[in-house]
Amino acid sequence: MAEFDILVRGGTLPEGGVADIGITGDRIAAIGALGAASAGRVIDATGDLVSPPFVDPHFHLDATLSYGTPRINASGTLLEGIALWGELKAETNVKAMVERALAYCDWAVSMGLLAIRSHVDTCDDELKGVQALLEVREKVKPYLDLQLVAFPQDGFYRDPTAAANTIRALDMGVDVVGGIPHFERTMEEGRASVRALCEIAAERGLLVDMHCDETDDPLSRHVETLAYETQRLGLQGRVAGSHLTSMHSMDNYYVSKLLPLMAEAELAAIPNPLINIMLQGRHDSYPKRRGLTRVKEMQAQGIRVGWGQDCVRDPWYPLGTADMLDVAFMGLHVAQMSSPQEMRRCFDMVTTENAAILHLADYGLHEGAMASLVVLDAGDPVEALRLRPDRLCVISKGKVVSEKARNDARLSLPGRPDDVRRRHRAE
Ligand code: FE2
Repeated sequence: MAEFDILVRGGTLPEGGVADIGITGDRIAAIGALGAASAGRVIDATGDLVSPPFVDPHFHLDATLSYGTPRINASGTLLEGIALWGELKAETNVKAMVERALAYCDWAVSMGLLAIRSHVDTCDDELKGVQALLEVREKVKPYLDLQLVAFPQDGFYRDPTAAANTIRALDMGVDVVGGIPHFERTMEEGRASVRALCEIAAERGLLVDMHCDETDDPLSRHVETLAYETQRLGLQGRVAGSHLTSMHSMDNYYVSKLLPLMAEAELAAIPNPLINIMLQGRHDSYPKRRGLTRVKEMQAQGIRVGWGQDCVRDPWYPLGTADMLDVAFMGLHVAQMSSPQEMRRCFDMVTTENAAILHLADYGLHEGAMASLVVLDAGDPVEALRLRPDRLCVISKGKVVSEKARNDARLSLPGRPDDVRRRHRAE
């Protein structure tokens, strides 16, 4: 009888070193030099990077793959995107949302993206998105961990029924409390919404993930309130601020006070570089602000930062591939994280850092962990960022869920020997 169900042989781990990984059932049973161990299925990963799966801490599954319906976002701004989403959600239905979300999840799995935190709009009296994504969460459970955030898109106070509907969504089983303080009518109502939503999370023992200060307004101050409420309610380590783009434009002195407050509250930050490089600075002439939050400065303060994807083909963003390496690639550029250590960290920011933000249990490549991993056609994490290569094999919860043949292009060039092998890897 075979020793393991699956043996992934000879892969290079993200932190360096070569190891075999033996899988029994849904667990990693052994990792190291497993020599001639037998297995029901052997996957040769010699020379390939073997990583724990990609994790996306910020997405909108209720809106994904809807691009162009009922129209496109002509101004390219966040605010027109919100208005357009309002038109779409009035005319869509649960079935269509389920189909679009499932199609995206298939795509994600093929990219080795096996855990997603998705916001779900609660400003809809029928809660169509909530119904749809609760159904999707169950359907994908055998191979993808979906965490849902109750997100009052049109404002917890600004929308007349948002507060009641957000509570209903949590009662129905949505996992995390969200918010959008910068979209409330006034700074005061924004502050009050952060307070009320954090109190709801504290009462229910839930995590918080708030869209926060997603503007170019240097005076937006909701992240300060989020840090304050986190400490007041004892929610340290359980709260994330998503986007935080106004920090890009804030006064440096104020930021020098704000960063330690965020660190004390153990807030996590989730910048979404593909979307915010597209949306921010739209009201600027030149110079145009990049609108990405202060990633390196946060990390220097010990604040956990994870890259999020946010959107794929929806009212806010026309492109996207479900590839967290694309997200990290853009983040690396916009945040100018070009040193070897910083590039390496960008890989962690779409794997281990994001897993910690989601509080994922049993994540990682170690004995006893959930047997979920990705074999990439790259030699190491930085090469993976450079190439954004094929995912040769994706294993989720002990099952092979996606495979792709290695792509070696063969060229026939005049004056060159026949059969030139062309790969981009630096091996
Ligand atoms: Fe978002």
